[in-house]
Amino acid sequence: MFKIAVLPGDGIGIEIVPEAIKALEAIGEKFGHKFEFTEALIGGAAYDEVGHPLPPETLRLCREADAILLGAIGGPQWEELPVHLRPEVGALLPLRKELGLYANLRPCMLFPSLLGASTLKEEVLQGVDIMVIRELTGGAYFGEKHHENLMGGGEKATDCMTYTSSEIERIINLAYDTARKRGKKLCSVDKANVLESSRLWRKIAVKMAAENPDVETTHMYVDNCAMQLIRNPRQFDVIVTENLFGDILTDEASMLSGSLGMLPSASLGGQVGLYEPSHGSAPDIAGQGKANPLATILSAAMMLRYSFNLENEARLVEEAVNEFLERDYRTPDLMEAGKKLVTTAETGDIVAALIKR
Ligand code: IPM
Ligand code: MG
Repeated sequence: MFKIAVLPGDGIGIEIVPEAIKALEAIGEKFGHKFEFTEALIGGAAYDEVGHPLPPETLRLCREADAILLGAIGGPQWEELPVHLRPEVGALLPLRKELGLYANLRPCMLFPSLLGASTLKEEVLQGVDIMVIRELTGGAYFGEKHHENLMGGGEKATDCMTYTSSEIERIINLAYDTARKRGKKLCSVDKANVLESSRLWRKIAVKMAAENPDVETTHMYVDNCAMQLIRNPRQFDVIVTENLFGDILTDEASMLSGSLGMLPSASLGGQVGLYEPSHGSAPDIAGQGKANPLATILSAAMMLRYSFNLENEARLVEEAVNEFLERDYRTPDLMEAGKKLVTTAETGDIVAALIKR
């Protein structure tokens, strides 16, 4: 039996998580696995209910689980709270940190039937298959922070981008392990021409490149990488980068797969893996059945692969998503003329039926 902590969170999180559960249950039925789902509060929903975005019971449930399925957190109604009570800083970041989830894997794959859904040209997208590995528990997100009122008026705010050599080594190590199982190409992304933390990153990446001669390593500045991702994305296999750069580059990379609603993620490195779509809580479309649950369903596939070691089951979920798209079903974010518009729940039902078939 696999114990899964379920944290729907806020906004569309509440709508997309049940659809991923449908997919997991379909897998359970087909392969005879038992999944036990236990729900807990996180984010704004938790703040409203118990006064804190990451209640201790939620953290305990996560620690005791075999894997965590998270929807999304945050929304305009919680933006004015004191920083430590806001869903992002008060719940998601401490959850990642507490569980030691230093590696965030964001695979950017192209489903052939979505070639036309991207804003980019088909000939640029053809054959894209990138794994971005984002460092998740260091850098400016977790470095020292200051905010002060200046004597002469005005304010001053500081976020320190801090990395230790061991933090850099462990994420690059994981990136080499990943690259070795894929196309054996690794691009390490930094801003070593300007930032001290990036110079340390580059020094370590250069040293580790020499220790991993079976993988072809390149080094790229983050600004150039942002441009290369849309100029010629096929040049990339695995990208490894620090936290903030990875946050930005993965939103950009999601457009290669047609929509931010298609980009799953796995956060690894601790006792228990966390699986969540790369997108946010989309308060503007919440509660209307318009959200695309495929990134969450694909995150569930990553859970099967990375936490439960069920590769065939993971593939079947991905194939079902592919088949769903091949049959011309589309959520609003992917809609094109001549396709069949479906709701969030219909998407989950169809994918689950395709899995059970
Ligand atoms: C992400 C999100 C989060 C991040 C936010 C919600 C704190 O953008 O997972 O990419 O910046 O890490
Ligand atoms: Mg982000």
